Amino acid sequence: MKHEVVEKNVGLMIIFIIIAISFGTLVELVPLMFIKQTNEPLAGLKPLPALELEGRDIYIREGCNNCHSQMVRPLRAETERYGHYSVAGEFVYDHPFLWGSKRTGPDLARVGQRYSDDWHRAHMYNPRDVVPESNMPAYPWLFENELNSARTGKKMNALRKVGVPYSDEDIAGAAAAVEGKLEIDALIAYLQQLGTLLQTRR
Ligand code: HEC
Repeated sequence: MKHEVVEKNVGLMIIFIIIAISFGTLVELVPLMFIKQTNEPLAGLKPLPALELEGRDIYIREGCNNCHSQMVRPLRAETERYGHYSVAGEFVYDHPFLWGSKRTGPDLARVGQRYSDDWHRAHMYNPRDVVPESNMPAYPWLFENELNSARTGKKMNALRKVGVPYSDEDIAGAAAAVEGKLEIDALIAYLQQLGTLLQTRR
């Protein structure tokens, strides 16, 4: 039997396993690259404005994504709690994606407009002041640090190279838009728009 030849030869076996896995991967991945639903931006999706973009970088710098996912799964328990499940078209301009799966805290994909700016301010300064049992760290330094406006335009330019449609005016006006603003302002601006294009969380 030919099959026996493969079973008794580790080298051949490895080659055939690699071929089988590559084929499976291609069958799963390649169609996704061409299906509109997975690579087209959701209607109305815009690149993050300067302040929100800086907020997103602070979110990454502070490691918020280590405790918070940004993806509502299409399961009843999730949609009841967080709102509309996440769709691919919402994330087309995200580089890198912040979906995650670690949920020490709640998912934040639809947190935008759920709380007031003041609530976020109090919560970031010391989570225990608003949620006594919280184990989220406090971030008091965000209330002192000013944003570095020198880099905002360059970041937008870099994102434009990978397909985020920033205009020349966006880039030219970036520094002025964040000049003198505090890190906390940027972070809250970022949080307040999360997920609002598709649905505001109840
Ligand atoms: C060590 C894990 C941890 C880290 C790191 C963390 N959080 Fe949290 N976060 C939590 C937990 C737990 C809760 C739920 C209790 C509470 O509301 O404080 C929470 C709640 C929240 C909420 C309220 C969500 C809701 O729907 O009620 C927001 C907004 C939030 N975090 C934002 C952030 C941001 C922004 C950062 C980074 C600057 C961050 N978190 C970092 C654990 C974390």
